[in-house]
Parts: sequence; C-alpha cells; structure tokens
Amino acid sequence: MAAGKLNVAVVGSSGYTGGELLRILLRHPRVAVTAVTSERSAGQPIASIFPNLAGLTPLICEPLDPAKIATKAEVVFLALPHVTAQEAAYRFHALGRKVVDLSADYRITDPAVYEKWYEHGHRYPALLTEAVYGLPELYRERIEKASLIANPGCYPTSAILGLAPLVRGGMIDLESIIIDAKSGVSGAGRSPTLAHHFPEVNEGLMAYKIGTHRHTPEIEQELSALAGKGVIVSFTPHLIPMNRGILTTIYARLTKFIDTAELRARFEEAYRNEPFLRLLPPGQVPNVRHVRGSNFCDIGVTADPRTGRAVIVTVIDNLVKGAAGQAVQNMNLMARFEETEGLLSAGLFP
Ligand SMILES: NC(=O)c1ccc[n+]([C@@H]2O[C@H](COP(=O)([O-])OP(=O)(O)OC[C@H]3O[C@@H](n4cnc5c(N)ncnc54)[C@H](OP(=O)(O)O)[C@@H]3O)[C@@H](O)[C@H]2O)c1
Repeated sequence: MAAGKLNVAVVGSSGYTGGELLRILLRHPRVAVTAVTSERSAGQPIASIFPNLAGLTPLICEPLDPAKIATKAEVVFLALPHVTAQEAAYRFHALGRKVVDLSADYRITDPAVYEKWYEHGHRYPALLTEAVYGLPELYRERIEKASLIANPGCYPTSAILGLAPLVRGGMIDLESIIIDAKSGVSGAGRSPTLAHHFPEVNEGLMAYKIGTHRHTPEIEQELSALAGKGVIVSFTPHLIPMNRGILTTIYARLTKFIDTAELRARFEEAYRNEPFLRLLPPGQVPNVRHVRGSNFCDIGVTADPRTGRAVIVTVIDNLVKGAAGQAVQNMNLMARFEETEGLLSAGLFP
C-alpha cells in the first residue's frame, strides 16, 4: 500500500476499459494503483499487455482473488463482463471496499428488468438497492456518499446528457424521442469476434440491435426518473469503423417551439457548472475527433423550425466519458478529491 495516496485496484485490467483506467490512474496525482487482474495473463506484466504503459508501471497481473486484492486497495474498479461483475462487486463490498463497477450489473434498479434484457437473474438484489447510478451530472451528491457505483453505459451517457435538460424542463413530447447513435469498435471489448474483425467492419456502416439493445432500459430508466413518469424511446445503435468514439443524434418534438438561441440558453443554464460538458457555440457541430482520449462530452443543439423538433448531437469517447474517465470522476467524488483531478486534459487532435 502506498502511504498518502488512495490505493486502488483494477479488476479486469487486460481489457479495453481496464487499459484505459490504467492510462488515467497511473498519472492521477492522488492515486496509487496497487493491483491489476487478468485470468488469462496472470503472472505477466501489465505493460506487456498494453505496450503504451511500458516504463510507467511494474505491476504484474494476478488472478481475481477478492480477499487478497482487498488487502491492497481501498477502491476497486471492476472492468469485467456483466454477470461476472455481480459476484465480484458483492465480494469486495462485503469486504468493506468501495466499488466502481463498469459493467451493467448494478445499473438497472429493477431485477426483473435486468433479467429480461440481460437474460440472467440478479443474485444480489439487496446490494442492487445500495448502488448509485454514476452519472455525476445527475447524481453528484448521492455519488459522494456511495459505496457502490454503477458506472453508466457508453450509449446511455451520450443519450441522457443530450436529453436531460429537455426532459427535466418539460420541453419535449416524451413520446417522440428518437436516439440514433454510432459507436467505434472498441465499444465491443477486446475479445475478438467475427463481427468486429477488421475486414468485416472497415469501410462499412451498419445499424444493429434495432429496438433491442441492452442499453435501452437503462436510458428509459433514467429519463423516466427525470420526467417523473414512464418514458419509452426509439434507440438505434450503429457500428462505425473507427476505434473510439460515440456520436449520438437525438430528435424530439418541442412541446412549444423555441428557436436555437433559446434552446441553447436552456442547455447553458442546465450545464453551466459542469466541468466535462462543453456546449458548442451556435453554428458549430460536435465531432468525435475533438473528444478522443478526453473525458469531455461536447453538445450541439439546434431547433428546426420546419419540423418543430429539437436536434441534439453529443459526442464522447466511449472508453473515457463512456467508461474509464467517468469511473475516475466518480472515484474523485467518492474520495472527496477535486472532481476533475487527473482527468482535465484535451483529447488527441487530429
Ligand atoms: N468497451 C467499452 O466501450 C465499454 C464502455 C462502457 C462500459 N463497458 C463495460 O465495461 C466492462 C468491460 O468492458 P471491456 O470493453 O473492457 O471488456 P474486455 O475488453 O472484453 O475486457 C474484459 C476483462 O474482463 C476479464 N474477464 C473476463 N472474464 C472474466 C472472468 N470470468 N473472471 C475474471 N476476469 C474476467 C478479462 O480478463 P482476461 O485477461 O482473463 O481475459 C478482461 O480483463 C463490460 O461490462 C462492458 O460492458 C465497456
């Protein structure tokens, strides 16, 4: 354990979000990473799995043994597949450790809804009631006091941030919401599959899981909480041949038409003090290129007088604001560090 620093472990460190957590945490001034896990690469230096970390850490991967890892870390990040994370979160939580779970296992508050969409029962419904949905822009005060964070999904982060001011302000017809989102291939994780093989994806663009993607109930749960009544959305994800990034275009009918300047003013008011949300100047449109490697979410708003719709475009890096960066933002809040500590950096350009 490193004295004077917050000791943290990354469980599932050999995957894409695990690697991104390490990239961020190894340069965080108030944190020491004391343990990393991988089953398949146990015994190997993590820097041999992520050559970009060479020279920055001597950490060796170890198998997932909660009792052992809990002796080395006060906060545990779980970058595991769903279902596997259920048990790990339970074990670490029972050992008194704070947990930030990047999987979907503790995001859906109703276990029956989780079971329906994830085709697996929830073994720890009591712990589920203690989890806090880790979207700081909505739940900052609750996150500060939480012991288990359900870190949001990447698509839900981009969709909810684009819709929250409209839904909370009663500005749109809740039955008219269409969310059209495009994600880079790292969103599918590091394990190779045919659908994500380079020749299958490169120079193509396709929609998938239309109306059936597992992030749908998560988006609807959070929008319903904001609206105070049930919200159903049309959500269509797309796979796009780039490594990182999500661009989400949201369409919704305005209940009372306002022009773009007024719409932008409403977003400005809602997000004025948000360190990671950048509302773009009028006439500018978000581009995933501008947030790659950063924890920012860029937002562009337009009111279309011809259709009476608000058209909101958001961009995030799925591995940063959509996963590891948001997880560190949540850790900062739980540890009462500056919320932006270790995170406030420009992305890569070009
Ligand atoms: N990718 C994204 O953009 C993104 C965004 C938001 C949230 N998430 C969520 O974050 C989680 C991790 O995603 P990822 O993309 O990083 O996945 P990934 O690249 O497939 O990595 C999965 C990690 O989990 C470990 N693991 C797999 N099965 C395990 C088991 N039975 N016991 C212990 N460790 C096991 C793997 O270790 P081995 O070395 O042993 O294989 C690897 O380190 C998922 O729940 C995902 O839905 C992902």
